[in-house]
Amino acid sequence: MRQSGYRALRHVLFRLDPEIAHNISLYLLAVAPKLKPVRRWLNHLFDYNNPRLVTSVFGLRFVNPVGIAAGYDKNAIAVDGLGILGAGHVEVGTITPSSQYGNQRPRIFRLSEDSALINRMGFPNHGMETVAPRLAKPRSIRLGLNIGKGSDTALEQSVSDYTKMIAGLQHLVDYLVVNISSPNTPGLRALQGHELLDRFLLPVMELHTEVCPDRPLLVKISPDITISDLDNLLDIVVRHGVSGLIATNSSLNRGGLSDPTHIETGGLSGRPLHDRSNNIIRHIYRQTGGQLPIIGVGGIDNARAALDKIRSGASLIQVYTGLVYRGPGLIRQIKLGIANELENLGVDSVGDIVGVST
Ligand SMILES: Cc1cc2nc3c(=O)[nH]c(=O)nc-3n(C[C@H](O)[C@H](O)[C@H](O)COP(=O)(O)O)c2cc1C
Repeated sequence: MRQSGYRALRHVLFRLDPEIAHNISLYLLAVAPKLKPVRRWLNHLFDYNNPRLVTSVFGLRFVNPVGIAAGYDKNAIAVDGLGILGAGHVEVGTITPSSQYGNQRPRIFRLSEDSALINRMGFPNHGMETVAPRLAKPRSIRLGLNIGKGSDTALEQSVSDYTKMIAGLQHLVDYLVVNISSPNTPGLRALQGHELLDRFLLPVMELHTEVCPDRPLLVKISPDITISDLDNLLDIVVRHGVSGLIATNSSLNRGGLSDPTHIETGGLSGRPLHDRSNNIIRHIYRQTGGQLPIIGVGGIDNARAALDKIRSGASLIQVYTGLVYRGPGLIRQIKLGIANELENLGVDSVGDIVGVST
């Protein structure tokens, strides 16, 4: 089911509530790898490897730079299926220490005219105890774990939610992501402010040094951060020895949208985020001299947009909303497009074009 086949399926899925449509896709991706003929068919459709796409970032080798962003497979039920679609890594979560329902439904909205989504999920997830055994399986695909604070945890106490999950789950994943940028958990983004962040990162990084100094730990940031706050944040994360940043989460900014659904509350993702997240990525890359690895996410729905992110400074990229609009063939399409571009440029490795347009 490459791009044209997906158009027909999308027609059906887009008649359903977006969360129901997503859960159906996820369920199919969870079941598919268990059925041998289906797995073979999907491999045939989506398999694409190229040595130019192999890359090493924060000490880990990735077979390609294209990953699945947090929120797509919150509870780690479809990691193998997402691997068959060709992703080089999957970031599961956001999970919290205990299971929680999240906000009331409906909580995902399509802005089809803008190739965008608005979501106000509020971290619905099964909780760390239930998700842990699903992470434990050996896999060829890289696995990231995105963690957040529980909805009942006061902001001042939130550090213990994060340290509990780091201590309990770090050995099951390749990298960890501290999410302090979701717009749907009240107060969470305040942790990006420099005083709170400094105080928050101290115990988090102390624990990290004690239990898993070699496990990369990244911080995921918002596209709505001001440049001066970003500069302060960069000073702090570098001082604390954070391994990298994920830029960016979804946005509260509603500028330049056409679809009337933009009045819904929540985080905006998809194409309108593309330039905003690139600006943040470029700024981080310049300010840190390319020394702080960046995972670039926001509005990637074709190979050109993926290359823009990489040239802006992203060593790895992630997709979410693009998959909803373009379908599962997007990952292969992006990988092919990057590999062709590298070949045309006579460049051996995707790592060689990171940050070239900053
Ligand atoms: C429905 C939905 C749920 C999401 N849930 C999470 C989440 O739990 N944790 C997180 O860090 N980001 C979450 N995100 C944000 C994505 O990981 C990503 O940062 C953002 O959507 C921008 O990428 P995109 O334009 O490719 O979608 C979510 C996005 C969507 C659309």
